[in-house]
Amino acid sequence: MQTRKDYILSLEADKWLFHADVLVDKAHVVMLKGQGIIKKKDVTAILNCLKKIDSEYFVEHKLPSYEDVHTAIESVLIREIGEDMGGRMHTGRSRNDEVATCIRLALRTELLEILKAVNELRKVVIEKAAENVDTVMPGYTHLQHAQPTTFAHHYLANADTFARDFTRVMSAYERVNVSPLGAAAFASTGFPIDRDRTAKLLGFDSVLENTMDAVSTRDFIIEVISCYANLMTNLSRLAEEIILWSTSEFDFVRVPEGYVTGSSIMPQKRNPDYAELVRARTGTVYGSLMSVLSICKALPYSYNRDLQEVTPHLLTATKTTASSVSVMKSIVEELELKKEEMARKAQIGFTTATELADTIVRETGFSFRTAHKIVSSLAKRGVAIKESGEVLREIDDVAISVVGKKLSKHGLTEKKLTKALDIASNIEKRNVKGGQGKKELRRMLRTRKADLDRDIKSRDTKEEKVKRCLDELEKEVKRKARVIRVIRKIRS
Ligand code: ARG
Repeated sequence: MQTRKDYILSLEADKWLFHADVLVDKAHVVMLKGQGIIKKKDVTAILNCLKKIDSEYFVEHKLPSYEDVHTAIESVLIREIGEDMGGRMHTGRSRNDEVATCIRLALRTELLEILKAVNELRKVVIEKAAENVDTVMPGYTHLQHAQPTTFAHHYLANADTFARDFTRVMSAYERVNVSPLGAAAFASTGFPIDRDRTAKLLGFDSVLENTMDAVSTRDFIIEVISCYANLMTNLSRLAEEIILWSTSEFDFVRVPEGYVTGSSIMPQKRNPDYAELVRARTGTVYGSLMSVLSICKALPYSYNRDLQEVTPHLLTATKTTASSVSVMKSIVEELELKKEEMARKAQIGFTTATELADTIVRETGFSFRTAHKIVSSLAKRGVAIKESGEVLREIDDVAISVVGKKLSKHGLTEKKLTKALDIASNIEKRNVKGGQGKKELRRMLRTRKADLDRDIKSRDTKEEKVKRCLDELEKEVKRKARVIRVIRKIRS
């Protein structure tokens, strides 16, 4: 049974923010010292105690049960070193700017991981495409056989999709990695704090200036979960196709052993549960997005406790997205392709009809619409693709009823017809920009690999910057914390 107080607690979801909170505390205290707002002895005591709290309290989750992580850490600090020293940490700030800063820090780390995972997924998708330039399969519209294609073209489509997801998350990162710290409750503070200094110490790219905006906005969260929702939509298509392709009806792929489960009653079953859960959890992420939008809607300025309710949704959406990306990467990496079956099925459903109509246009000079009518009548007759002489006779027969003329009398030869009905030459002919001909596929593979290398570098640069700043902060903390040990040694 929950107590009245339990209703407003956020300590559970705040565990995610624990390390970020200690970092924020450290940076704030270092800045307060730099500005001469608190004295050296208080600073060293606070920093030493924060180190202890960071290592001891988090591991065992033994923070006392206060309203939230911020109050809990401050109260442990005060319990350990007394209110006269510990009570100075919160000078010139509020939990409102503190929590907003913590969320941005924790989210930044997760985004860097997600960006890395998306790039790993892109890498395996591109590799699979490169290995399958010659792997023929049916291409679909309306899930009906449409035209022949290659596995490479199909997977390069996924590669481009995930490249856009990368760009979207990377762009959102720009709006996440800004510092609201120093906004205090919303009105800033009369203490001469240095907001640029704390932003720099924490590896933020800039300060979120307007202090009322800084504590009130969660638009960066809405933006990030929107990016997740898009990414999950794309993952769900990949998952859905693998589910379909693994059925006896398609039989294009074998889902790797580690990503199927058996049935409690049917001994033969290999169910693609992982891909199914990626598909389902896309819904979970949409749910998080709707929740966050609804919570933030029409909230008056500035901070309202409603905002606390946003954080768990962000955490759920983040964890769900991150794990889904890596599950799909492993499935794609280990997926076994049944190439012969794919190629066999590419023949079914008159997939060369478009090329046949195109050939009629090229060879006879009839308009495309006329050629379409002729081939459409041919298809309705249910002509199986057999010996080309026979097909030519059938086409002539149809053409007489559609246009009153025989196509063989207007330039259509058996040789051209054979080519039109050949799957490989159908594919090869489509060499316009972005098409599925080998030349284009190879060009796209080259540029996609180069784009991926560039994106890996730009993501790594962000991570290195953060690491550099946080290392610098730790050094600063060590320098200031050391003083107390020296003093203690002299005293003893
Ligand atoms: N736990 C709160 C949150 O997540 C921290 C800020 C509380 N501020 C306040 N004025 N009550 O939003």
